[in-house]
Amino acid sequence: MKFFIDTANLEQIEEARDLGILDGVTTNPSLMAKEGITGDENIKNHYKKICELVDGDISAEVIATDFDEMIKEGKALADIHENIVVKAPMTKDGVKAIRWFTDHDIRTNCTLVFSAGQAILAAKAGATYLSPFIGRIDDMNWDGIELIAQIADIYTVQGFATEILAASIRNPLHIVRAAEAGADVCTCPLSSILGLLKHPLTDIGLAKFLADHKKANS
Ligand code: G3P
Repeated sequence: MKFFIDTANLEQIEEARDLGILDGVTTNPSLMAKEGITGDENIKNHYKKICELVDGDISAEVIATDFDEMIKEGKALADIHENIVVKAPMTKDGVKAIRWFTDHDIRTNCTLVFSAGQAILAAKAGATYLSPFIGRIDDMNWDGIELIAQIADIYTVQGFATEILAASIRNPLHIVRAAEAGADVCTCPLSSILGLLKHPLTDIGLAKFLADHKKANS
């Protein structure tokens, strides 16, 4: 399974990269706004900086909602760097745009996915990645992980090449369960990635090893 970090914060991207486990980055308009990145040029420059920090797939989202504008924006985003993956929403125009990008060798991430039917459409359009938002499904009292497992089954049975990118991860257990359910990628906040490190028995065990070493060597 690949690990992406879901943020536009450069320090957090560097911290995850330095851990040696990072395969890529996803962003969205809310995450860009959170970092105070506004205006087309600043946004493009920010994507450039992310591409310089991480050698892996970097998802950059179109803002337009109609087909022609999505194509224009997506082409401009793809021109920033060869690692850019154009992120387009699961809408009628979004699916048409994903098909267009696929036919023109531009890789895509279909975002805002909440059902297996949407996952089938995105795969048929040739999406490189599919982003089911598992945390937001859980928020609605449904089971986001169950959706990942259902899509993984469908993609295996049908032989679809689209990779399942579990998004809207909120905690370390989401990562573990998404991996178990067949996600190809998890895109996570830094806190969830670092949360995977934690176990009290590791801390207790390390303290004991160090104390025993100190006693024996003093
Ligand atoms: O990857 C999508 C993600 O940024 C959405 O997360 O927590 O806003 O549902 P969240």
